[in-house]
Amino acid sequence: MSENLHQLRCFGCGAKIAGAQAQPDFRCIECGELFEVEYPGWVERRGPERPNPAALKWLWRERKSSSEALDHSGVWRFRELLPILDSFGDAVTLREGNTPLYHLRRAAKALGIDQLYAKHQGMNPTGSFKDTGMTAALSVARERGFEWVACASTGNTSAAMAAYAARAGLRSLVLIPDGKIAWGKLSQAMDYGAITCQLKTDFDGCLTLLTQIVKQAPIYLLNSVNPYRLEGQKTPAFEIAEAFDWNVPDHLIVPGGNLGNSSALGKGFKELHELGLVARLPRISVIQAEGANPLTRSFAANKGTALEPVEAHTRATAIRIGNPASWRKAARAIQETGGFCLDVTEAEIAIAKAEIGAEGLGCEPASAVTLAGLKKLRAQGAVRSNETVVLVLTGHTLKDADYTIDFHRGTLLTEEETGGPQSKVSAEIEGLRRNAVVVDATIEAVLATLKDRA
Ligand code: F0G
Repeated sequence: MSENLHQLRCFGCGAKIAGAQAQPDFRCIECGELFEVEYPGWVERRGPERPNPAALKWLWRERKSSSEALDHSGVWRFRELLPILDSFGDAVTLREGNTPLYHLRRAAKALGIDQLYAKHQGMNPTGSFKDTGMTAALSVARERGFEWVACASTGNTSAAMAAYAARAGLRSLVLIPDGKIAWGKLSQAMDYGAITCQLKTDFDGCLTLLTQIVKQAPIYLLNSVNPYRLEGQKTPAFEIAEAFDWNVPDHLIVPGGNLGNSSALGKGFKELHELGLVARLPRISVIQAEGANPLTRSFAANKGTALEPVEAHTRATAIRIGNPASWRKAARAIQETGGFCLDVTEAEIAIAKAEIGAEGLGCEPASAVTLAGLKKLRAQGAVRSNETVVLVLTGHTLKDADYTIDFHRGTLLTEEETGGPQSKVSAEIEGLRRNAVVVDATIEAVLATLKDRA
């Protein structure tokens, strides 16, 4: 019996098609919008295919102690809520998901909040949240008989895609912007055997070109315009709800780039709510870098109903995106949950990243926008002291070691960005910098350094 219970619904005009009928660029032929996966059996509240909440919660917990590869995956453990494959046996997994939820004690204290947590998606097999989406969409590619998969990327999607393609025995093509990409990520794509093209354009240009390429060659597109990516990426919502014993936090704060992740997490919580697994929704807020903030501008100008692309600039290269594909879906998640959308400066990102690092966690700069954004939300009174907040840390600190080293050496930011050496920002940065020092190889020299630094 097929385990496949899904269809695709256009996010714009509502047209419904079977999964296999999607165009290579995953755009609706009627209106050009993106599709969302839906499960018709769940729509009728008492429909025979509607999952039973209590039985599911029990089953998902039981699977954690199973020895089956599929059960070990923090994505496929929840497979009843993503029946997108004809056979789950076809799933390509690297045991993604099941990532830790850490209490951020120092940041919580500094912000006057009791309950502040970080869901660390950088603890996935290739070091970013992309693995949860890739296991889902690449499994679909393999089941549908594709030999080639491709993505445009700021680095993490390509690392994840290349790894999963290698596991599945598929060939992969990566288009990345020339320069302005972290070496850790590029090296992963190379190591996992992808054909990597550095194009003389930005991320948005790479995605536009790839969209044309997949219309001419039998290559399966694995960017987050592919709705199956979002099915995998919604599962951290299930893990978070499970971790809070099927209550949800008051706030979920997510970085925004191409806006697939915030859309997916919004979908995940919405489905849990519709299926009766949780009683309410968290407010989902999206934080962007000031130089790559098209959604923030859109919320300020027209409450997220129209979006003007921008030319994007930020050292948080993962989110250096000016024309986000999934902005309508992300806007819906923010609007439906009563969340917020705002941007943060380069200095605010750098400081927040160092603060997360000082708690022993570490993340890449794009992830740190969440803490920087929370500080602003707290200052505006949008987050109250008795509320529970979860920050989604999207990538591992080792992805972009150059950024971290430049920060601690004091060479990351310009005077314009810090406000000069006498500014409050510079003082904050000085308090966080831990540059390595060169000392003589003697006991005295090391002890003197200790005394000096302590
Ligand atoms: N954080 C990290 C570490 C990322 O790599 C990305 C996106 C985001 C946040 C933003 O997520 O695009 O779903 O809003 N990276 C993509 C890539 C674009 O190609 O790796 P989003």
